[in-house]
Amino acid sequence: MKQLTETQQLKELIAQYRSEGRTIGFVPTMGFLHEGHLTLVEKASKENDIVVMSIFVNPTQFGPGEDYEAYPRDLKRDARLAEQAGADVLFTPSPSDMYKGEQNVAVQVKRRTDVLCGASRVGHFDGVATVLTKFFNLVKPTRAYFGLKDAQQAAVVDGLIEDFFMDIELVAVDTVREEDGLAKSSRNVYLTEQERKEAPMIYKALQQGAELIKDGERNPETVIKTVTDIIENTSGVIDYAELYAYPELTPLKTLNGKVILACAVQFSKARLIDNIIIDIDEWERS
Ligand code: PAF
Repeated sequence: MKQLTETQQLKELIAQYRSEGRTIGFVPTMGFLHEGHLTLVEKASKENDIVVMSIFVNPTQFGPGEDYEAYPRDLKRDARLAEQAGADVLFTPSPSDMYKGEQNVAVQVKRRTDVLCGASRVGHFDGVATVLTKFFNLVKPTRAYFGLKDAQQAAVVDGLIEDFFMDIELVAVDTVREEDGLAKSSRNVYLTEQERKEAPMIYKALQQGAELIKDGERNPETVIKTVTDIIENTSGVIDYAELYAYPELTPLKTLNGKVILACAVQFSKARLIDNIIIDIDEWERS
C-alpha cells in the first residue's frame, strides 16, 4: 500500500493510473477505522482495479463546540487495517494542504439538509460537500463508497454528483452492526459501560417502527411514537426521531415509496445516529 500525504503526489499517481486505464474506487474517511469502513474498502477492492482511501478529519464540517480536536485519531493502526482490507493507496493530507490559504469557493448544499443531522449541525454538510468536491477532483474516482449509517450524507453526495455532473458512481453500502445491533461508529468508544448496554435499543426501536410499517401502518406520527417510547427507556436523550421520503428527505403525510426512519440519540459523551431505509412499494409487491 502506498501512503501519501501531499495533494501533488496524489495527483501524479492518479494521472498514472488513469493513463493506464485503471478504474478507481474511493473510500473517504475521517479515520479511526472500524468494520464499517473496512467493508467499504473490501467492496471497492472487488469492484475496481485500484482502491484509494483518504483519512482526513475535515475541519470545515465541524461546528463551534463540536469534537474536531477530540475526534479520535490513530493513524498507525488505521494504516495497518486499511492495507489488510485491500487499500492500494492511503492518502492522509494536512488541513493546510487541503485548504491552501484563504478559500475562494465553498460548496453550499441547498436541499436535503434542513432535517435530521443537518438541522442541528448548521453548515456541516457544506463542509462535507466542499471537502468531497476537492477529494473527487484529486482522486477522480470511478466509484465512491459511502456507508448508509450516514444516510443523509449519502443523499447529499447523491445530489452533489447529480447537480455538478460528476462522472462518479455513488455506491451506498448497508450499515455494519455489532452482534447486538448497535451500528458501528468511531464515536462508540465514548460510551460508558452502562450506555454501551443501552445503545442497542436504538436499532431495536427502529426495527419495531419498521415492523409497524410492514404491518400496514402509514401514519408517520404513530411510527415515530413507537420509536421514541422505546428509546426513552434508555438514559440517552433523543435529538430527533423522524421519517422522510428518501433520498429527497421531504416530509410525508402518508407513508409511501422509499422512506427513511432515522434517529439521533445523545448519551453523555457520544451522539449516536442510526436509520432504516424502507422501500414500501417493494414490500407491498413481495
Ligand atoms: O463520513 C465521513 O467520515 C466524512 O463526512 C467524509 C465523507 C470523509 C467527509 O469528510
